Parts: sequence; C-alpha cells; structure tokens
Amino acid sequence: MSFRYILVALNLLHLGSARSALYGSCDVKNNHLDVNTKAFITDCDSFGYCSINGTCLPRQCRRDEYILSSLLNTDIPVPPLCPSGTFCPDDASACLPLVEVDGQCELNRDDECASPPQGMVLVVPNPYDEIEGDGSLCLLGKCMWANATLGQTCITESTTYIGYDPSGMSFTNTVIRDNCIEGQGYCDTNSNTCFPLLNLHQSCSTDRQCQSFNCEREFCTVPPESSVKVGKWVYALTGISVGLGMIGVLSLLLLMHRRAQKTKRIMLEEYYKEQVGFRNSIISFHSALSYQSEKSGNAKSSVMTKEEIKRTLSSMSETTLVGSRR
Ligand SMILES: *[C@@H]1O[C@H](CO)[C@@H](O)[C@H](O)[C@H]1NC(C)=O
Ligand SMILES: *[C@@H]1O[C@H](CO)[C@@H](O)[C@H](O)[C@H]1NC(C)=O
Repeated sequence: MSFRYILVALNLLHLGSARSALYGSCDVKNNHLDVNTKAFITDCDSFGYCSINGTCLPRQCRRDEYILSSLLNTDIPVPPLCPSGTFCPDDASACLPLVEVDGQCELNRDDECASPPQGMVLVVPNPYDEIEGDGSLCLLGKCMWANATLGQTCITESTTYIGYDPSGMSFTNTVIRDNCIEGQGYCDTNSNTCFPLLNLHQSCSTDRQCQSFNCEREFCTVPPESSVKVGKWVYALTGISVGLGMIGVLSLLLLMHRRAQKTKRIMLEEYYKEQVGFRNSIISFHSALSYQSEKSGNAKSSVMTKEEIKRTLSSMSETTLVGSRR
C-alpha cells in the first residue's frame, strides 16, 4: 500500500516538473484532457497557457471565482474573470464570446454555450432545489438546446471519471447527460427516447431518472440537501397552539390574581369585624363601669362581675395583638 502511494506521489512530482514555466517552450498539440480525471492538461504550468507559436504565455482569464492557491504568486498578476457574454476556455488563453447552437464547446462546459432566446426552451422548475441550467448545453462537443420532449428521440453523452485516493485505490464515476427538457424527462439509454422523470418512491436504477436526482436503494427519495417544506396547515396549527397557550397563561394569571384578591378581602373583612368587636367591647366596658358606679352594688342582673371585666380585658389585648401583627 505505502509503496503504491510513493509511486503515485513520484508520478505527481514527475508531472509537475515536466511543465514549462512562463515563457518556456510548449506544444499546443499536447493540450488534452486526462484520460482518467478529464482534467485539462497542457505543457505549461498553472500560470501559463500554450500559445500557437510554442511559448507559455501568462493566462488571460480564470473560471473560478475563488483563486486557487496554485495561482497565487506575487510576481504574476491573477488573471481576471470573464465579463458576461464571454467564457474562459480550459486553456485560459482569452475570454471568448459564447458559442451558438452547433458551435464547438469543451467537455462538461455548458457555460460556454449561449442561452436560448427567452421562451424558446422550456425548463421545468425543480421542486427539490436541484441546480438547473438555462436550457442550453454542451453535448458531444457541440452546443445545443435541451428541448427534446417526452417520447422524442434524444442524445446522451456518457463520461466516466476515474480518480485515485491517497492509498492509490481507484474509483469511478459515470455521468450521463442528455438533451431532454430539464426537469421534465431523462433520456433512456436503451431506446434513446425521453422518459418522464420519476416521482418520489418510484423504482429507479440511477439518480438521473428521478426528479429529485436521488435514487436510493432503487427508489427515488428526497435529496438530503433539499430544504424542508412545511405545509400551510402546520403554520396554522402552530399559530393556533401559540394563541391558545397565551390565552391559557393569561387566564391562569387572572385566576391566581382573583384568588389572591379574595383572600386579601376576607382578611380585611375579618380585621374590620375584629376592630368593630374591639370598639363594642370598649363601649360596653365603659358603660358597664359607669352603670356600676351609678347604682353601686344594686341590680345584680346587669352588674358586671369581676370575671366579666377580666374576660373583656383579655379579649381586648388579644384583638390588639392580632391587629398589630398584620
Ligand atoms: C511568441 O509570441 C509571443 C507574443 O506574441 C512573443 O513574445 C514570443 O517571442 C513568441 N515566441 C516565439 C518563439 O516566436
Ligand atoms: C431544438 O433545439 C435545436 C438546437 O439544439 C434547434 O435547432 C431546434 O429548432 C429546437 N427545436 C424546437 C422545436 O425548438
């Protein structure tokens, strides 16, 4: 395993050293796509393109919005992005105008083809947020429109990418592209006719047959990256629940408030009753005393005994105690 890794590393080193620096010599005939990875290969290093006269000249444009670290060199200016209506070809030799139908384009470079006029080509919106083009595509090296309707004859382009992981193990990925209307159909490779895209839970054999572009265990499923769609009834239910919750809390608080007020009211009432009782006791005490002093000793029925006076006094002190505690 490690030996193979070293071989791969050496191979990469060798490839790197073989490339010419700026203004070095090159041959345009060596421009090609890598058989396995389909990456563009040229004699020049990542800063140059091979001009027709056999010299590596500074690249004139770039495709990536983000600048690759391999293009960062303070001595060499970073090539610009191309303005709209033009594209940067694989060799980055110049910004070129977009290609019309039947014109030449490079592998997997739909962006090199001019958009069809407004309304000329149907693109069915994808409900799963899968990326779609504008109806133009580069198929088998030529720009065309994706306008084959269901049941119509269509063209496919099959590309197999082979890569190697750090351990030297290879992996392949085959991509089949076609000119059926985007979002509507896929080109069946046996009959070369456009079949309608499959809905969720229909049985499939490849991703490209599914509207969701995700075939899992032979069934079309929702792609993991698609956004979660929430039904209107969920919004309604959530709203009603929140409203009910708020009303519930409010009525609970009101109820608690009423209870607290009621106990307070009862307490106050008791307090006033006690106060009135206290006042009455004092009045009766005084009148009893004055009555006794007026008719000293006679009329036993209305005379206040010593015990009665004591009781009144003790109830007075009790009332005072309770009253002062509040
Ligand atoms: C190729 O063209 C470039 C720019 O036009 C020029 O600077 C260079 O000298 C030429 N190289 C040869 C070998 O003619
Ligand atoms: C479909 O696209 C091709 C170009 O790829 C174009 O020549 C042809 O006229 C289009 N057909 C329709 C019906 O628009």
